[in-house]
Amino acid sequence: MSGAPSTFTVAVAGLGKRGMHHAEAFAENPRFRLVGLCNPGSPRLEAARQKFREAYASADVADMLARTRPDVFAFCTPPHVRLPLVRAGVDAGAKLIAYEKPLAVSTNEALEISRLLRDAGVKSVVSHQHRYGEHYRKVKEIIDGGAIGRIHTVYGHATGWMMHMMTHLIEYARWYNGDAEAEWVAGQAAGREKFADVHASPDYIAAVIQFANGVRGVIECGAGAPDVPEVEYWWRKCRIGAQGTEGFAEVLTGGGWRAVTRDSHGVISGPGDMDYGHDMKPYVQDIAAWLDDPAKVHPCHGESALKGFEIMMAACRSAVLRGRVTLPLAQAEPELEALRKALPA
Ligand SMILES: NC(=O)c1ccc[n+]([C@@H]2O[C@H](COP(=O)([O-])OP(=O)(O)OC[C@H]3O[C@@H](n4cnc5c(N)ncnc54)[C@H](O)[C@@H]3O)[C@@H](O)[C@H]2O)c1
Repeated sequence: MSGAPSTFTVAVAGLGKRGMHHAEAFAENPRFRLVGLCNPGSPRLEAARQKFREAYASADVADMLARTRPDVFAFCTPPHVRLPLVRAGVDAGAKLIAYEKPLAVSTNEALEISRLLRDAGVKSVVSHQHRYGEHYRKVKEIIDGGAIGRIHTVYGHATGWMMHMMTHLIEYARWYNGDAEAEWVAGQAAGREKFADVHASPDYIAAVIQFANGVRGVIECGAGAPDVPEVEYWWRKCRIGAQGTEGFAEVLTGGGWRAVTRDSHGVISGPGDMDYGHDMKPYVQDIAAWLDDPAKVHPCHGESALKGFEIMMAACRSAVLRGRVTLPLAQAEPELEALRKALPA
């Protein structure tokens, strides 16, 4: 007997910019019912309560989860609020936890989150949703179609700093490289000013990555990374792409895509700009698809995010220890603190 597809209940914590994007996208999708909202500060909670009147709103996450017991727990908090909320979601019986990048603030925390989710059999998704942009997908299509030949290099750079931007760059560079495993990373970093920010980071960081399929990855982030003069909006000055034996293809987060291919007779290009409204729709739809069918693993699944996060943390360790850092990483001194101590003022 086939009936209407089931509806999944969702609760969202952290109702800033991204939390509201999530709440809106879930509320608009008929496969979900928004049942819970949480933010410790009352103005944001109140604004969300006014907008989504049927959801239970609380300033306390444990209370909100106990009252709502959601199928999906989404949280969009600052980077230092991760492990306790993953634990709260697991304890409340969530089937899937969707949360914001970066996955954690250290390898130790990332491994603990991963263990917790795996032991409980809870799915996770990390919000690297830019990949749903048409311009991001066009680059993937060109690469996978073979039009630029055999890929030898993938790259990504952004003027935004590490804890904001770097896992985005790595996630999409890995995607363009067929999600190959990374073997080692050599990193270098400079500048301590941004350690005072809520997205605590070195001012600049570079990572050279050796992938197991022989492809080289080059990632740069922060002050001193190349400008993307084609893009005006500062946060969208990101260039991510691949070079192959017969051309290249790249996406500019705020400026479409460009390529030279085997048959293109010069540069070809097309439009595109990162658009939260566009990207969040398939992002939440793919959450329903994965909950319906375990074989339909979400493109932004947590294990992929962990691999990208490890590459970023390996670059930090390399800048502290010098030399190449082999993956996967084991527990060690938390990377941000070690790097802050190691870098000259
Ligand atoms: N994927 C993307 O494209 C993208 C874009 C921007 C930001 N982000 C990421 O999203 C996250 C949130 O960013 P934002 O811009 O929405 O931040 P924000 O500061 O606007 O909102 C964060 C909210 O979390 C709340 N909060 C803090 N601790 C909490 C707790 N323990 N429980 C519940 N709520 C809590 C804060 O009160 C605040 O309202 C960050 O990790 C950021 O890196 C991702």
